[in-house]
Amino acid sequence: MKNIIIFGAPGSGKGTYSDEIVSRYGMGHISTGDVLRAEIKNGTELGKLAKGLIDKGQLIPDDVMVNILAKVYDEKVPGKGVIFDGFPRTITQAEALKNMLADRHHELGNMIELIVDEETLMSRLLNRAKEQGRADDNEETIKARFQVYHNQTEPLAEWFEKEGIRHTFTWKGDKDTMLKEIFAFLDTQQ
Ligand code: AP5
Ligand code: MG
Repeated sequence: MKNIIIFGAPGSGKGTYSDEIVSRYGMGHISTGDVLRAEIKNGTELGKLAKGLIDKGQLIPDDVMVNILAKVYDEKVPGKGVIFDGFPRTITQAEALKNMLADRHHELGNMIELIVDEETLMSRLLNRAKEQGRADDNEETIKARFQVYHNQTEPLAEWFEKEGIRHTFTWKGDKDTMLKEIFAFLDTQQ
């Protein structure tokens, strides 16, 4: 399977759909949010830097993220393809990812964009707050994350469009329908 970049606002289902894709196609999964939360849990220097920014809904600097990503990518089993979840989030990160993959004679693959209305996003994240207690799932930080997404990450969709690999899926109120549409597309990409 080709690499996949799963792209969308906070709460759009990047993690949820990545798990489904991994079960079906047996790919690797890199969630940069999960990597950072593990660093916070382990109390590392990177974790300390990340915590201050994540709690405010702000991005970790590009140079830090690009180094982490390359390290984590090289630890994955080659040949099966990887899902990038939460990376890239800026044009700088996207260019760095493209170069990193080209150095390894790998391709970007497909970008899967999840479009979900903001009311649904907010209710999903507030619900997750009750179930999992993620530190950045409170109304104030969620609003900051939406703002950062609109200003810094959403414009990147055009970058993928120009690369010719943007594939958009829109939430119509039913998880199974969206999943079927994504699988129908990915089945053609093996
Ligand atoms: P990250 O962990 O990537 O968070 P995010 O982008 O805000 O996205 P979420 O993980 O909250 O949502 P998701 O799209 O994965 O949705 P999920 O499947 O969980 O990043 C966190 C922070 O780390 C950033 O703010 C930043 O500070 C930092 N960071 C990370 N990467 C970085 C980078 N590259 N550069 C700089 N900084 C970086 O679904 C949400 C909930 O909805 C779940 O509880 C799910 O069960 C539920 N749900 C209910 N119904 C559905 C449905 N039908 N479909 C999908 N999910 C559903
Ligand atoms: Mg996630």
